[in-house]
Parts: sequence; structure tokens; C-alpha cells
Amino acid sequence: MTETTPSKFISDTPERRNDRIRRVITHLKDGTTDSYDEISTISATEYTDPALAVAEREFVFGAVPSIVAHGSEIPTPGKFVTVEMPRNKIIVVRQKDGSVKAFVNACRHRGAMLETAKSGHCRIFSCPYHRWSYDTDGSLRTITRGDTFGDLDQTDLSLAEIPCEERHGFVWVIDRVGATIDVAGWLGEEMDTILASYDMDRYTCFRAGSFTEPVNWKLMQDAFLDGYHIQYAHPNTAGKYIHTNVSVLEDFGRHCRWIKPRKSIDRWIDEDPADRPMDKYLIETHFLGPNSTLLKQPDHIELLTFRPHPTDPGQSIFEMRVIPPKVEDTDLDEEKWTALWEKNWDILLRVLHAEDFPIMRGIQAAMQSGDVAPMYLGKNELANQIFRRELFALLEKDSQ
Ligand code: FES
Ligand SMILES: [Fe+2]
Repeated sequence: MTETTPSKFISDTPERRNDRIRRVITHLKDGTTDSYDEISTISATEYTDPALAVAEREFVFGAVPSIVAHGSEIPTPGKFVTVEMPRNKIIVVRQKDGSVKAFVNACRHRGAMLETAKSGHCRIFSCPYHRWSYDTDGSLRTITRGDTFGDLDQTDLSLAEIPCEERHGFVWVIDRVGATIDVAGWLGEEMDTILASYDMDRYTCFRAGSFTEPVNWKLMQDAFLDGYHIQYAHPNTAGKYIHTNVSVLEDFGRHCRWIKPRKSIDRWIDEDPADRPMDKYLIETHFLGPNSTLLKQPDHIELLTFRPHPTDPGQSIFEMRVIPPKVEDTDLDEEKWTALWEKNWDILLRVLHAEDFPIMRGIQAAMQSGDVAPMYLGKNELANQIFRRELFALLEKDSQ
């Protein structure tokens, strides 16, 4: 009999969770927060330098897995989404056997884009230019007027395949043909165990939206790791309900998880909550390196993803997903379920567009000045520090 080793990391024992909650309450009492060990200095060129943008495309997105979709966006064979990755424009498509593959979205004849729709369903990919066609597994099926074209070995003419894996309900890719993908290895034992415990493969993506912003992707990502701006940038929305500058964070290296208290927790500052369920008083956020923030709300998941523009460091692609339990797993009817998540979607998007994005656009514009003085990231900006530390680690590893 083989012995199995029990997982060293258990995502959340009640003791562990209680300990985190007690630490949050202590921070609230003392006006403190979990923090990094040093202040970091930022230079404006981090958001404008084309050479750095090339390195990020190659050594970050071309080297490690990042999320491109929730599996429910392509539920059945032939369903596809197209994604503009930093290095490649890709098609992600559900296979006949239920697995998922991804391909560079370019015909092997003379390069026409095979799919221009954001999402859809197809039996084959049929090129609009001369109608070569490909199976959804990427293999070339037909060369039109093949007897006049000349001899080519069709088995060598499959679409270029992008490494792709489905795990924890999400589809991940490494944006480089020939790379080896191992999402569990990238997540590490702690974050892999945490994500497994959320059962996100049983949820469904209510909506996925994609928005191009005139802002470097790191500024966008930073805004959604930042618990320090809440009362200042969102005084009449999130700032009313969520405490500013208080978090308890678990640093797992490439990824991290932290809790922020809602103001409704205040009644437990002077009264011991003992073993009461405290989820409704907290927001649980995860940074999934290199470029996503996953918010675990009591009744759904929100995923925010930030990707560099393929050429311009001054632009990025922001994707937002609201991922609730399927209607049949709730006690709502279809209409109420839709209305609920529609409202949720609108509120989230309105706050981002009205309150966060104008500030981000302002920063990017300010960074174009020739003489921006050094800037600083505080010890209290812990998740931002970790994002920056891990990004630099990837860039440095490949410059050695
Ligand atoms: S470019 Fe696709 S068939 Fe010619
Ligand atoms: Fe914000």
C-alpha cells in the first residue's frame, strides 16, 4: 500500500481563521496593519519604458501561467473565446473530449485572423481569406484547390499551440508556444490548496467584460491590491463600508491572500466574537501572480485581470468577471438571479469607471513628464509591495 503524505497546508482551519480575524480586530484597536519590511522607491519609467514592456511580455507573460477565462465561458465543444495576450493573439477553444486548447489566431497559409469575434461557437475554424480550414484541435483539414497549390505535408500545418490548462474552474495559458505549463506548480501548495477549497469550477461566469485603458497594466493591478486609498478615493461608496489601511495578509511568495474588515465588524472590537462566523464582516482578496485580483465575497467571486497592451506600455487591457453559483444551485429563479448579478455588475463597473480609472489615467499622464521625482510605496502597501517584488523577481531571473 502506498502511503499518502497529508498536505502540509490546510487552507483554513477554524483556528487559523480565528487567528486572522483576531489580528484584524487588534489592528483596528491599535490603528496598525500588517506591513512590509521597507519602503520602496518607484521610478516613472516603470510605467513608460518600452524596453521594460518588452521584458514583461517575454519574461512574465511568456514564462508563467495567467488566467484568460472561466471554464464556463466555453462550456461545450467548439465554444471559443479570443484573447489579446501580450505576445500573441489567441483562440481558446473547448475540445470534443472536454479539455481546452489554445492557438495563435493566425492562418498557416498567409496569416489571416481566423476568428475575429470575442467569443462564439464553431465546428471548424474556417479562414476568411482562402478558406483553409482547421479542426478545433488545431489540425489543418483542408487546403482549398490543393491540387494547384503544390505539395505540403498537412500534418506540419497545424495552428501554433499555446500551452493551456484548466484548473480551479479557470483557463490558464502561458503566452509562448513551446512553454511547459504547470498551474499547480506555479500556484504553489498554499494557493493551490486555497483555490481548490473554493470549488470555483462549480460556479458560472455571469459576465466577462474587457476594457482597454490608457494606463500601464501595473498601475491598474496596483489599484486592486490597495487598501490604503479606500476612504480617500471612494468616500461615498466602498469607503463607507470598508475600513481603510487595515489588513491581515498571508504572503505565499508569488501570490498572497489578505482580509480587510468591513465597518460592520466594529461591534466586535470590544466584545470577543468567540467562534461566531465572521465572513460577512470581511472581504477576502487574493493576488494571483502575475496579474489578477480575485475577490471572494460571501456569495460569489469577482476576478479582475490586467494585461499589458501588446506594444504600448501606456495602455492595458482590463478584464472583469462576476462569477456566482449557478442558478440551479441557488433558491432564486432565473429572472431574479439575472437581476441580482446584473445589479452587482453595474455597481462594480460604475465605481471603477467613476472613481478608480480617472485617477489611474491621471497617473499615466503624469508619468509622461520628463522629470517626475522618485515616488514611494509604503510599508503599509503590503500587497502592492509583494506584486512588485514578484514581478522584479521574474524579470531578474531572466536577465541573469
Ligand atoms: S490566409 Fe488563410 S487561407 Fe489564405
Ligand atoms: Fe479603488
